[in-house]
Amino acid sequence: MTDRQRNMVMNALKMGGLFVTCGSGDEINIMNTSWGTVGRMWNRDVFVLPVRKKKYSHELISKYKSFVINIPTPDMMAALQKCSKISGHDVDKFKEFGFDPVPAKLVHSVGISQCAVQIECKVICTSEMRSSKLNATIARDMYVGREYHTLFFGEIVRSSFEKK
Ligand SMILES: Cc1cc2nc3c(=O)[nH]c(=O)nc-3n(C[C@H](O)[C@H](O)[C@H](O)COP(=O)(O)O)c2cc1C
Repeated sequence: MTDRQRNMVMNALKMGGLFVTCGSGDEINIMNTSWGTVGRMWNRDVFVLPVRKKKYSHELISKYKSFVINIPTPDMMAALQKCSKISGHDVDKFKEFGFDPVPAKLVHSVGISQCAVQIECKVICTSEMRSSKLNATIARDMYVGREYHTLFFGEIVRSSFEKK
């Protein structure tokens, strides 16, 4: 992954967030995230994604050991905001937003066809956050319900940075 591509991902996180898609067949979902990071681990390009355990996305990413990072286009910002208010437990968000699921090529997940870029990630490590290891201020401010994240380390195995 080039510096420019990494900057695109990090800027999208700061500018409103990214769509994360997961699952396969009838079991597919979209969540948004503005937390995460792109880096190098174990000689691989990796996206580290934090997901809370109650989310439908947590269930699907754990099951299929894959997810796709989708960089939204500017006209998708309303969907991005709405995406955080509804759960895939209750709603098919692809239908809700009129997005077309497209099967990933190298991982067991779908992406969003309309997004500018899809980055396919294969989960190679998971790590459970523990309050005893967390800065007390962050624990107090970010985890009121004590619902800590699972960190999914996704190896970036394919990406499409072509413009649509
Ligand atoms: C700006 C923003 C960032 C979010 N980031 C995360 C995140 O990093 N991890 C997470 O589990 N939920 C995050 N959420 C909440 C999920 O996006 C939201 O609950 C999700 O779309 C619904 O989850 P589900 O469909 O998987 O059940 C965020 C919400 C907002 C508004």
